Amino acid sequence: MARAGAAADSRAHDVTQPRITVLISGRGSNLAALLEAEREARLGGTVATVVSNRADAPGLALALAQGARISVVDHRAHGSRDAFDAALAEVVDRSQPDLVVLAGFMRILGPAFVDRYAGRMLNVHPSLLPAYPGLDTHRRALADGVRIHGCTVHFVTADLDHGPIVGQAAVAVLPGDDEATLAARVLAAEHQLLPAAVRAFCTGKLAVDGRRVVVSGERTSAPRPLFVPAA
Ligand code: GRF
Repeated sequence: MARAGAAADSRAHDVTQPRITVLISGRGSNLAALLEAEREARLGGTVATVVSNRADAPGLALALAQGARISVVDHRAHGSRDAFDAALAEVVDRSQPDLVVLAGFMRILGPAFVDRYAGRMLNVHPSLLPAYPGLDTHRRALADGVRIHGCTVHFVTADLDHGPIVGQAAVAVLPGDDEATLAARVLAAEHQLLPAAVRAFCTGKLAVDGRRVVVSGERTSAPRPLFVPAA
């Protein structure tokens, strides 16, 4: 069952700003990055509601501590994925989002849910897509010996982890890295990338052209090549 509005939002909202609903399942460090960006007026939108599929997600406490409104839609309380998706959509719709952000939301969403928020749902993924879609991205990157790894923010489509790419951030894989050290470096990059991508959406800078996202105002001069030599 959905438990909506478990806490009233105690923050002053700018009603002219796009409304963002953030879906989480766990720790919520990307959510924290979004809330921090909002506090510092560099998000371009306002986090209206945080929804988790787990009542024990640490990110919920974090949202509450920041005065955000929270809801829980427990996937275990629904007999099928479609039933869960429908309950989730009801709660998300109630928050009237301009943008839905999957920030560590660990459930696969069905086509009906994805279609409902087409063009206004972003996901942050811990790899440089299209490399390493799915789970265990850091372990797989280390096993392959890649020198460069990173994270991606993309529009969500029915094709899991393959929607149009909004932005990416690269990190070096360093000698001696293990999953934990690499994950921490990628996560720090996610915390920069996700608020920037959300801001680009909220300020109307993104246009989807087939599989590509055109970002207006994006720098067109070539950046310095990133070269990570063998250790
Ligand atoms: C992040 O690495 C995100 O890319 C992945 O799950 C992790 C969530 O971390 N989808 P957090 O809950 O935001 O701390």
